[in-house]
Amino acid sequence: MRPYIIINVAMALNGKISSASGRCKISSDNDLQRVMDIRRRVDAVLIGANTVINDNPELNNSRCRIVLDGNLKLSGNYHVFDGRIKTIIVSKYNKKIDNASTLFVKNTSIEYILDELYNYGIKSILVEGGSNVINQFIDKKLFDEFYIYINPGMVLNGTDLFNLKKRKIIFEIMSVDMGILLNVKGILD
Ligand SMILES: NC(=O)c1ccc[n+]([C@@H]2O[C@H](COP(=O)([O-])OP(=O)(O)OC[C@H]3O[C@@H](n4cnc5c(N)ncnc54)[C@H](OP(=O)(O)O)[C@@H]3O)[C@@H](O)[C@H]2O)c1
Repeated sequence: MRPYIIINVAMALNGKISSASGRCKISSDNDLQRVMDIRRRVDAVLIGANTVINDNPELNNSRCRIVLDGNLKLSGNYHVFDGRIKTIIVSKYNKKIDNASTLFVKNTSIEYILDELYNYGIKSILVEGGSNVINQFIDKKLFDEFYIYINPGMVLNGTDLFNLKKRKIIFEIMSVDMGILLNVKGILD
C-alpha cells in the first residue's frame, strides 16, 4: 500500500523551477493559497534534501514535514528542524537528529519509502520538490494528482523540472493570476 500522492510544482515558462542563486518566487499569491489548502488536507508534505539546503522552507500549514535525505547531509540549522511542526527524515543512516524523527530505510527506492511511510501512518502526501524527487515519482507514475503552475516569465540558469522533449503530458489548463495551472492527467513516455 502507498499513500495518496499529490505533486505540485511552480515552473517558469522555460522549464526552470529555481534560479542559479537558489530560491526565487515562481508561484503567484492565489496559486500559493491553493497550495496551502492542499497542505492542510494531506497528512504530510515531502521534499528532498537539496530543497532544504537551497530554499530552507518552513512548509507552514502542513501537519508533518518529510525530508528525503539518503546520506544524511542535513544538520540542525534549517527551519525543518525548528520543532514547530513534526519532521521525519528518511535516510539510509539510523541517527537521532534534534527536533526530527528518523525513518531508517534499507533501500531508497521511492516505492519502498512510500510503503514504509504508509506503515508509519502517513496516508496522503503533497510532494513539493525538487526536481530529483519529483522525477522519481514521475518515472514510476506514482501520483494521483499533479499540478504545475507555469509563470509566464523566464528564469536563467536554474534547475530544470524535466526534459520536456522526452515527455508528453496530458493536462487540463486553467488561468491563475498572470500564469497558468496545468492539472496533469497523465504522462506518456
Ligand atoms: N519551483 C518549485 O515549485 C520548487 C519546489 C521545490 C524545490 N524547488 C527547487 O528545487 C531545487 C532542488 O532540486 P534538486 O533536484 O536539486 O534536489 P531535491 O529533489 O530537492 O533533493 C535531492 C536530494 O534528496 C535526496 N533524495 C532524493 N530522493 C531520495 C530517496 N529516494 N531516498 C533518500 N534520499 C533521497 C538525495 O540526497 P542523497 O544524495 O543524500 O541521497 C538528493 O540529493 C532547489 O533549488 C529548489 O529551489 C523548486
